[in-house]
Amino acid sequence: MLNQIDTILNEAKAELAGVNSLDGLEDLRLKYLGKRGAITNVLKMLGTVSAEERPAMGQKCNELKESITVIIEDKKEILKKAEINRKIEAEKVDVTFPGKKTRMGSKHPLTIVSEEVAQAFLGLGFSVVDGPEVETDYYNFEALNIPLNHPARDMWDSFYIKEGVLLRTHTSPVQMRVMEKSKPPLRVISYGKCYRRDAVDATHSWMFNQLEGFMVDEGVTFSDLKGVLNLFAQKLFGEERKTKFLPGYFPFTEPSAEVYIDCFKCEGKGCDFCKGSGWIEILGCGMVHPKVLQNAGYDPEKYTGFAFGMGMERIAMLKYGIGDIRLFFENDKRFLEQF
Ligand code: FA5
Repeated sequence: MLNQIDTILNEAKAELAGVNSLDGLEDLRLKYLGKRGAITNVLKMLGTVSAEERPAMGQKCNELKESITVIIEDKKEILKKAEINRKIEAEKVDVTFPGKKTRMGSKHPLTIVSEEVAQAFLGLGFSVVDGPEVETDYYNFEALNIPLNHPARDMWDSFYIKEGVLLRTHTSPVQMRVMEKSKPPLRVISYGKCYRRDAVDATHSWMFNQLEGFMVDEGVTFSDLKGVLNLFAQKLFGEERKTKFLPGYFPFTEPSAEVYIDCFKCEGKGCDFCKGSGWIEILGCGMVHPKVLQNAGYDPEKYTGFAFGMGMERIAMLKYGIGDIRLFFENDKRFLEQF
């Protein structure tokens, strides 16, 4: 039995010297010290030796167990340290290594222009509100004096979610939503996406952005509308800009007008940009129709107001000389990086 103990110790020493992982070490611990390990087996054999030899043998067995435990613990420490060093080595950061280049994004030209236009109106005391893109027939048409079968519905045809619910064709529904909830005086702008069943070409898209503005109070006149839009045109297209108001038609404004600015490319002389006319159309506007005021629960004898609406793509195209509306939505970086 003594020979066996020596053999076990030598074998264990040799095997433990060769182990180089914590998992491997655990396997060896089980092999020697586990419930069915070599040392347990030797201890079981103690019962077969004579009573005189047993104490000495028992002591020898304990020494064997202790020696192997110590060797394993020592080895464990060494392997743990080696593991930590390996990790440090693997995770080492070379501070002199050139960093990865961070690519900077830039604002979309429509965002830039929307913010600039909004800023111009904020400066005139307007506040910004949001409106839903999915609208009801009532707010998109009915409340704005466009009853069912009104011919104007044709040019504002849209995508329907279900009967009576559609993607809004303009930002004008916001007028009614705000008027229903608040009392005059009101000075509000709202901008966002609109949708129409229009064929796509260089100046039309089935999805585009509009900015709506309106003011309602006692004694608001067409002169106020002209004053506000003049200031806006000068802020956005240059101090020297002149505006021209030509009669127009919208069912929700009366009178209605189309607003033009003198061409900033040729100073009104006539060029390719303004198609020789010297003027560029920028938006539609008018005095809020008495029926619309009534629909909002306002007394049209007491309150008057004006409203205007513009296509943001059109404004951005004019401002930056962009020739095709599709460029805004194609996400071509060569285009977007220019702003
Ligand atoms: C309107 O949508 C009115 N709600 C504007 C308004 C508001 C008038 C308040 C009076 C008072 P209109 O359909 O003309 O009007 O559209 C306004 C602008 O939206 C157009 O001048 C154009 O710049 C833009 N627009 C209209 N349809 C499209 C389209 N399919 N693609 C791109 N832009 C469009």
